[in-house]
Amino acid sequence: MRYISSGESHGRALTAVVIGVPAGVPVDIADIDADLARRQSGYGRGGRMAIESDRALILSGVRFGRTIGSPVTLTVSNRDWDNWTDVMAPQGPANPAARVTAPRPGHADLAGIQKTGSADCRDVLERASARETAARVAAGGVARALLRQLGVSVSSFVTSIGSVSMEMPADPSAVDPDTVESSRVRCPDPDASNRMIAEIDEARAIGESLGGTFCVTARGLVPGLGTYAEAGGKLDARLASAVMSIPAIKGFEVGDGFAAADRPGSQVHDEIAHNGERGFYRRTNRAGGLEGGMTNGEPVWIRAAMKPIPTLMRPLGSVDIDTHEPVDASRERSDVCAVPAAAVVGEAEVAMVLADAYLAKFGSDCLDDIVAAVAAYEARITP
Ligand SMILES: Cc1cc2nc3c(=O)[nH]c(=O)nc-3n(C[C@H](O)[C@H](O)[C@H](O)COP(=O)(O)O)c2cc1C
Repeated sequence: MRYISSGESHGRALTAVVIGVPAGVPVDIADIDADLARRQSGYGRGGRMAIESDRALILSGVRFGRTIGSPVTLTVSNRDWDNWTDVMAPQGPANPAARVTAPRPGHADLAGIQKTGSADCRDVLERASARETAARVAAGGVARALLRQLGVSVSSFVTSIGSVSMEMPADPSAVDPDTVESSRVRCPDPDASNRMIAEIDEARAIGESLGGTFCVTARGLVPGLGTYAEAGGKLDARLASAVMSIPAIKGFEVGDGFAAADRPGSQVHDEIAHNGERGFYRRTNRAGGLEGGMTNGEPVWIRAAMKPIPTLMRPLGSVDIDTHEPVDASRERSDVCAVPAAAVVGEAEVAMVLADAYLAKFGSDCLDDIVAAVAAYEARITP
């Protein structure tokens, strides 16, 4: 299962096409809309979020609430499109007044026009914009619908914003999603949440922006998803690729990640235990549920680092692409901090990789066959 997306930030709509979806998966558009709403929420978002209230529309691949084994197409309209028809018209003469000629540091603007030969940064920024992540969340909703049928849930929470961090819980997968969603920064630690909000306020007041870190967890996974046998199929590598593809993500860790490098092996690896109820299990889960490129039966947890938003209300220096004179970088309507939203996008990317790993191991045509294959596998490996 994988997706492609299309659409520009201020175009008519975003589209996601998800291919490889088995038949029989119940898809409730309300679940997808709820994820879209979570992507739009979070303290620190810009004015755009007040305009857009994203809703997904299913164009193909679902009948009477169930997938039918054909590609699932979803669109998310850009409600601001009506105000941008002269700037983003697919046909007709170019609008010279709408050109963007001051590329923003930290964005795709400059390398993008060099690469494509365009004389307008808007040709690049419209697609490079993280507005596209709404399509990812819609696509991820299809993956989550499949995973739900297999008893797998994917969640996320924010672990730091700017200089404010929460203490990492011993079991990140046990963090209560309702506690996360009750925080305006999607952080389960109320004290850290308040300090994060204060830091965002300070940043906004001085025209700054902030990054941070988040954790994505997945519970209910069978062991053996992914492979130790070939590089491209290693699940940790695939998760890294998917999460690193999210705009502004600059770091990725599996389990204890970079912190594990400082400690001796006895304080890093998770001892193997066994009992009649659980079968094999681990006494700790510092590995983040992944060993040898496969799930090991413990919850998966990964962390990602997001750089500060590059569009600054107090712009950095740039150079005009026509005159080569120094100018302020252009200003698009922008977020101050989007770490809570990026975490929701992270869930979608993780869900897509995990759903695909299930289909690779258990078949990909019919949900009932997949459920039966998972049950047979669990019976075989559980003594
Ligand atoms: C959910 C989300 C929202 C974002 N919002 C903005 C924004 O409002 N303004 C901005 O300049 N960058 C925003 N970004 C980051 C840029 O899209 C990103 O930094 C840029 O496309 C350059 O890509 P790179 O950082 O991966 O190199 C956002 C990223 C995410 C994941």
